[in-house]
Amino acid sequence: MNDIKLNLSKLKGKIIAVDGPAGSGKSTTARMLAARLGYKYLDTGAMYRALTHFALANDISPSDGAKLSVLAGKLPIDFETHEETNRVFINAEDVTEAIRTPEVTLHVSEVSAHKGVRTAMVVKQREIGKDGSIVAEGRDTTTVVFLNADIKIYLTASVRERAQRRLLELAKKGVSTNVEEQEADIRRRDEYDSNREHSPLTKATDAFTVDTTDMTIEGQVDHIISLIRSVL
Ligand code: DC
Repeated sequence: MNDIKLNLSKLKGKIIAVDGPAGSGKSTTARMLAARLGYKYLDTGAMYRALTHFALANDISPSDGAKLSVLAGKLPIDFETHEETNRVFINAEDVTEAIRTPEVTLHVSEVSAHKGVRTAMVVKQREIGKDGSIVAEGRDTTTVVFLNADIKIYLTASVRERAQRRLLELAKKGVSTNVEEQEADIRRRDEYDSNREHSPLTKATDAFTVDTTDMTIEGQVDHIISLIRSVL
């Protein structure tokens, strides 16, 4: 592993963008990849989730694009990333768990679809990534935010596999559901995210597709590292 890290020293300052549909393993893969490379990790979805959580807690409707856009520009969202976790803060309040509730998940697509919200978030994300050495993960990181990323990865997996992963994740949190319900939810999110007007989910033409259906998380990270080595 150290060997790989050393060989990748020429990677300094690069931008790696990871995109893909809900449940494709983006977050864990990107965080572990960042740790392996000694890079910063940026979870852009967590920023939209933080905004959604804050809006719901302050009676701002997910449909109120004008208010949400202003809020997106000034809400202080911070991260504290370690190899195993990525803690998220709003005004120094730890909202890591609060941004993953089913209620936030239900409304985040609508919140993140507003043009003004996206514009404000993209400005923040580019600022965070301005010095490179970053793995940025999220819905439009390869197509909008870091259009000139040095390496773009599009992670995907079958709907059934993604639903099963969600099921496991939720079971760990004591949430009881079933695979059919999760499949339906994933299809609904795919549909919404792919068809929305602003920054829909699309695969960048210059992204490498990695189908993770039959891969473990470690396997995904190894695979991406080999890919990076073969390209740079
Ligand atoms: O990756 P995630 O499930 O945490 O993302 C939450 C939502 O935010 C998802 O519905 C897509 C949206 N999102 C986005 O629109 N743009 C991003 N760069 C990241 C996430």
